[in-house]
Amino acid sequence: MKSTKPKVILTYPLNPDVIEKKLKPYASVILCRSRSQLKKEIMTADALICLLSDPIDSELLSKSKNLKVIGNYAVGYDNIDLKACKKKQIKVVNTPKVLTRSTAELTCSLLFACARRFYEAEKLCRSGKFKGWDPNLLQGLELKGRNAVIVGKGRIGQETGKLFRALGLKVHYLTRHSKSAEINRTLKKAQVLTFHVPYKESTHHWLTRTRIELLPKDCIVLNTSRGSVIDEKALIQSLKKNKIYAAGLDVFEKEPFIPAELRRLKNVVLLPHIGSSTIESRRQMAELVITGVLAILGGHSAWNQVN
Ligand code: DGY
Repeated sequence: MKSTKPKVILTYPLNPDVIEKKLKPYASVILCRSRSQLKKEIMTADALICLLSDPIDSELLSKSKNLKVIGNYAVGYDNIDLKACKKKQIKVVNTPKVLTRSTAELTCSLLFACARRFYEAEKLCRSGKFKGWDPNLLQGLELKGRNAVIVGKGRIGQETGKLFRALGLKVHYLTRHSKSAEINRTLKKAQVLTFHVPYKESTHHWLTRTRIELLPKDCIVLNTSRGSVIDEKALIQSLKKNKIYAAGLDVFEKEPFIPAELRRLKNVVLLPHIGSSTIESRRQMAELVITGVLAILGGHSAWNQVN
């Protein structure tokens, strides 16, 4: 007998126990791990739960006949073509709030790692070349009293600001309302510069070569948002010439590709997009995305709906 439950595609098994308890009683669940399978299954699906690394573009959406909602297992949804969703009246839900703290904490981890040169220190220990305590060994920067500039004053930007203040940093915000003169003035004093903005046309290469040139020599650049908010090539050149102190990057322009030039630098700390990767956040992300999708399928609204 044909199932009367709505058909929900998952592109990743997420937390299997959450899927079992919260989704399977209400939906017929199909796991699609390839784009070709997804293209086929989406034709008859009612909902899709996907990852930020799945491009949900107009080509894919044009195949859907009955799709009502897409649940993105992420707070950022730049992987989804919202215009194509609008045309087909497809709702999109995401996972805000539950990853705010984890991402802000990872930003602080990157800050410490850059300021105290964790990469070089770790490498020295693991290489077996550590010859003993030395007054000049790997001196780093102290954070207290430094000027931190946070680009983006949303939930993650604000949480990061709270943590930074607790560390004794002086926090300044730049938002989408900041005018160019204010941006330039603020960047000149940014000893820490961190990004917490969504990726869109207006934030593409927000940190241009020209803006990088305004940064002081002791600046640490951090990015846990999306790679393309920074002109990566220009950042690499500036790090190579030691025009800034360091960069801590959890995201890259062409993820998962990380340029070899960047991988060779010792004044960078590189992480594989793990901003929200805590046991707590990842579980709540699965729960939230499922709750939102089921609400929409049930004809209700969802607080985490983005369109
Ligand atoms: C998001 O949710 O957009 C984050 O990048 C995931 O870590």
